[in-house]
Amino acid sequence: MSFPVDVVVMAAGKGTRMKSQRPKVLHRLGGRALAQHVIDCAARLSARSVVVITGHGAEQVEAGLQAPATTALRFVRQEPQLGTGHAVQQAAPVLPDDGVTLVLSGDVPLTRPETLQTLLDLCAGTRLALLTLDMPDPTGYGRIVRAPDASVQAIVEHKDASEAQRAITEIYSGIMAVPTQLLRGWLSRLDNRNAQGEYYLTDVVKFAVADGLSVAAHRIVDAVQVAGVNSPVQLAELERAHQRRVADTLMEQGTRLADPARLDVRGELLCGQDVEIDVNCVFEGRVQLGNGVRIGANCVIANAVIEAGAVIHPFTHIDGEKLGVKVGPGALVGPFARLRPGADLGAEVHIGNFVEVKNSTLAAGAKANHLAYLGDATVGERVNYGAGSITANYDGANKHRTVIEADVHVGSNCVLVAPVTIGAGGTVGGGSTITKDTAPGALSVARGKQVGIANWQRPQKVKKAP
Ligand code: UD1
Ligand code: CA
Repeated sequence: MSFPVDVVVMAAGKGTRMKSQRPKVLHRLGGRALAQHVIDCAARLSARSVVVITGHGAEQVEAGLQAPATTALRFVRQEPQLGTGHAVQQAAPVLPDDGVTLVLSGDVPLTRPETLQTLLDLCAGTRLALLTLDMPDPTGYGRIVRAPDASVQAIVEHKDASEAQRAITEIYSGIMAVPTQLLRGWLSRLDNRNAQGEYYLTDVVKFAVADGLSVAAHRIVDAVQVAGVNSPVQLAELERAHQRRVADTLMEQGTRLADPARLDVRGELLCGQDVEIDVNCVFEGRVQLGNGVRIGANCVIANAVIEAGAVIHPFTHIDGEKLGVKVGPGALVGPFARLRPGADLGAEVHIGNFVEVKNSTLAAGAKANHLAYLGDATVGERVNYGAGSITANYDGANKHRTVIEADVHVGSNCVLVAPVTIGAGGTVGGGSTITKDTAPGALSVARGKQVGIANWQRPQKVKKAP
C-alpha cells in the first residue's frame, strides 16, 4: 500500500496566550521553531509536500521556516481566520487529488513519525482516519462520538456538546489523515452554523458517515505526542519532554549522563562510545564528541568537534559559530576556558582557566594554562604560553597573525604585537612586549631593565594639624 502524502500544517492562529511579539509557531523547542519540528517530522514520513497555512505574522513565519531536503514546502495564507475547516479550504487548491492529506498543527511539535505512519496505514488511501486519545479532563476539546457498535459517528466541539457528550473522555487530537479527493468534496460542504460561528474541519466526520464511509480512529495513550503549545508554561513543559527524549536516545546509545533531567541539546549532539556528560551542559548547533570524551558540569558547547579522550572541565564555553572549533584527541580544556570560532587544538593541547582562543591553531602538546589570549595565532608543537600573555592581533583597523614556532617558551605577561614570528625553540622573557621577529633559539627580552636604589626611603604620611 503506497500513496503520496501531502501534509497541511495549520499555523494561522494568533497564539494570544504566549503574550509575545513573535508568532507562536516560531517559538523554539530544542533550538528549532515549533513548526519546524512538524515540517521535519513530515519529511521523516517521506511526505511529498508540506503546505503551511499562515495568517497571524505570516511574513515572519514564512521567513522563519526551512524546507527539508526531500520535501517541497509551500505557504498558503488564510486571512481572516474563520476556523480549522476554512484553513484547510485555503490549502485545497494546491493539494493533488491522487494523495492523502495529513492535517497537523504547527504548535504540536512532539508527534512521533511512527504514530503518524500508523494513522496513514489506517487511512490506507481510502478512508478518513483520526488520531484520538483519552483525557482525564477533556474540557475544550472536540469529543469523539461513537455508535453503540463503537464506530465513529462525529466529532462534537466542546462548545456545541450536550452534557452527555461532554462526559466523553475520548478527544480528537487535531490530527487526521484523509484521501484528498474525499476531503475536497467534504470541505465544499462545510458551514459555520455552530456555537463559535467557525468552519470546523471536524465536520468532515459527519459527512463521511453520511456518505456511508467508515471512519477509523487510532487511539493513543501518550498525550505528549499531541500536546499543543499555547503558553510559556506549556512551552517549557514540552521542552523538558523533548529534552528527556533526547537524553533517553543518547543513553540508549551508551552515553552516560550524570542526570538526564539536566541536559539541554538545542541542535544535534553526536556521541562516540564511553562519553560522559556531567550536569547542566548545553549543546547547540552541531556538536560531535569522540570516544571517551568527558564534559564537566556547566559547559556550553556549540558547533564543535571534540576528539577522542579529550576532557572539557567545568564552566567552559565553546562556540564555533560558522568556522567551528576543533579540540584534538586527549586535549584538556578548562575549567573556565573560552574557545571561539576557528580555535583548532591539536592532540594533548592544554587550555586552562581564563584562557581565550580565537581563530588560532595550536599544534600537539602546546599549552596555555592561565589567563591568556591567543587570537589569529599559529602555535607550534610543545609551545608553553605563559600566564597573562596575549597576542595583540588587532591594530585598530586590521587583524594580523602571530606565529609562535615549535618549542617556544613565552613567559608570563607578554604582549606579542602582530604581525610577528617567534623563532623555534626561542624564549620570551616575562613582561616583554615583542614587536619584531625573534631568532630561533634566542632569549628575547623587551622591557625596562631592573634598577636597584639602595636604602630607599618611602614617603612618610604628612600629619595634618587638628
Ligand atoms: C481543534 C479541533 C478540536 C480538537 C483540538 C485539538 C476543530 C474545529 N476543533 O480545536 O476538535 O480537539 O483542535 O487541539 O478543528 N488554526 C488556523 N486557522 C484558523 C483556526 C485555527 O490555522 O482559522 C490553527 C491554529 O493556529 C492551530 C490549529 O489550527 O494551530 C488548531 O486551532 P485551535 O483553535 O487550537 O483548535 P480548536 O479549534 O480549539
Ligand atoms: Ca479555535
